[in-house]
Amino acid sequence: MGADLIVGIQWGDEGKGKVVDLLAQNYDIVCRYQGGHNAGHTIVVDGKKVALHLIPSGILNPNAINIIGNGVVVSPKALIEEMKQFDQLNLLISDKAHLIFSYHEEIDKAREKLRGKNAIGTTGRGIGPAYSDKVSRQGHRIGELKDIEKLAQKILDYFRANKSYFDAIGVKSPSKIQLLQELQEYSKTLLPFVTDTTSYLWDALKKGKRVLLEGAQGTMLDIDHGTYPFVTSSNTISAGACSGLGLSPKDIGNVIGIAKAYCTRVGNGPFPTEELGEDGDRLREQGKEFGTTTGRARRCGWFDAVIARYASRLNGCDEMAIMKLDVLDGFEKIKVATSYLYNGQEVDYPPSDLENVTPVYEEFKGWEKVKGARKWEELPKEAQDYIKALEDLTLTKISLISTSPDREDTIFRGGKR
Ligand code: IMP
Repeated sequence: MGADLIVGIQWGDEGKGKVVDLLAQNYDIVCRYQGGHNAGHTIVVDGKKVALHLIPSGILNPNAINIIGNGVVVSPKALIEEMKQFDQLNLLISDKAHLIFSYHEEIDKAREKLRGKNAIGTTGRGIGPAYSDKVSRQGHRIGELKDIEKLAQKILDYFRANKSYFDAIGVKSPSKIQLLQELQEYSKTLLPFVTDTTSYLWDALKKGKRVLLEGAQGTMLDIDHGTYPFVTSSNTISAGACSGLGLSPKDIGNVIGIAKAYCTRVGNGPFPTEELGEDGDRLREQGKEFGTTTGRARRCGWFDAVIARYASRLNGCDEMAIMKLDVLDGFEKIKVATSYLYNGQEVDYPPSDLENVTPVYEEFKGWEKVKGARKWEELPKEAQDYIKALEDLTLTKISLISTSPDREDTIFRGGKR
C-alpha cells in the first residue's frame, strides 16, 4: 500500500486543511514534506482554535504519528510556539530538515524591500533565504543542534564570510552568547523529537501502516513549475514528497488534488482569472478570503481549468476535491477559464510567461444555495452541472465536494479510497 498524498492545485489556500483533517482519522502517520511556517490553517476542535503552521494535521488524531520531513524548513522558534498548544505530541522531526533562524526572516524582509514594486509578496517568514542557504550549502540542519557550540561557531563564520552583504542590507550578526542561549533552548526542546524519519517511514510502509502526505502551498507556487519568480522556494508538487521525505515514486499511492470552486492568490504574480471588480470583492467577502498566516486580503477570481488540468497532470491526481462550493451561492453567472489566448492563438496549457495570456471563459448558470449540502442529490442541478463540467475540463474525477467549513458538510462521491 502506497502513501496517499494531498496536494494543492492552485496557488495555495485551497482548503487542504479541512480535507487532511477529515482524512487524518484514517491514517497512522501524517507527514509534511516541504515549505515551512509560511503555510497555515486554523482548525476548531471541541470549540478550541488550533493554529497549525508546521505540525501536520494528524496531530488532532491522538493515534497518529506526525512527521516533519527533511524537505521542510523549520523555524525552531515558531515550532516550539506551536507545540505549546498540545499536551500530547506524537511528533517526529527529520534530522536533515533545515533550520530557519531569525536572520533568515530579516533577510527575507530586506530583500523584499529592495525589490520595491517587483516584490514577490512573500510571507516574510525567511523561507526563501533558508532554502537558498540549503542549496548553496551554507544552511544548517536540525541534527546539528546536537552540538550547539559547533553550530554557533558555524553561524558566526557564515556571518563573517557574508559580512559585506549583511552590512549592505542591514542585518546584524548575533552575539555568541545570545546565539548559544537560543540554541540551548531549541536543542533541549526539539532534540527529543529528532530522528531519521526516512528509515522510520520505510519501516512503517513495510509494515502496512497507512501514511498520508500533506502538501503545503499549491502547484502554481512550485519553484520549478509555478509562476516563477512569484513562487515559494520549494517543490510543492507531488514529486516534492519523494525528495522531501526520502520516498521513491513507487511509494506514492493515491494522489488527491485540492482546488477551490473559484481561485485565489496571495502575493504578487500572474493570475489570469483574477476579478478586480464587484465579483472579486464578493468572492472575498463570501469566502472570507484573508490569509491565516499573514492576514492579507487574497486576490480572487474564477476557476481556471487550464491550470487545474495542468496541475492534475503534473501531480498525477487520481481524484480531486472541490472546496468552498457554497461561496458561489447566489451568483447569477459563474465563469470558468477553459483555454487561453496566447500570441494570437488559443492554447490549452499555461505558458511559462503566464502574464501574457487572456482567459477564454465559458459561463455557467448560478444557483441559490448549496451551503450545508451533504449528498450529491441535495445539490441543485446547476451546481451538479458545474461540478461535472469541471471534471470534464480537468480530466479528473471529483470525489469530494465541500459545502461549508464544517467537517460534516462534505459530499463524498466514491473516489478510489
Ligand atoms: P514565501 O513562501 O513566504 O517565500 O512566499 C512566496 C509566495 O508564496 C508569496 O506569493 C506568498 O504569498 C506565497 N505563499 C507562501 N505560502 C503560502 C500559503 O501557505 N498559501 C498561499 N500562498 C503562500
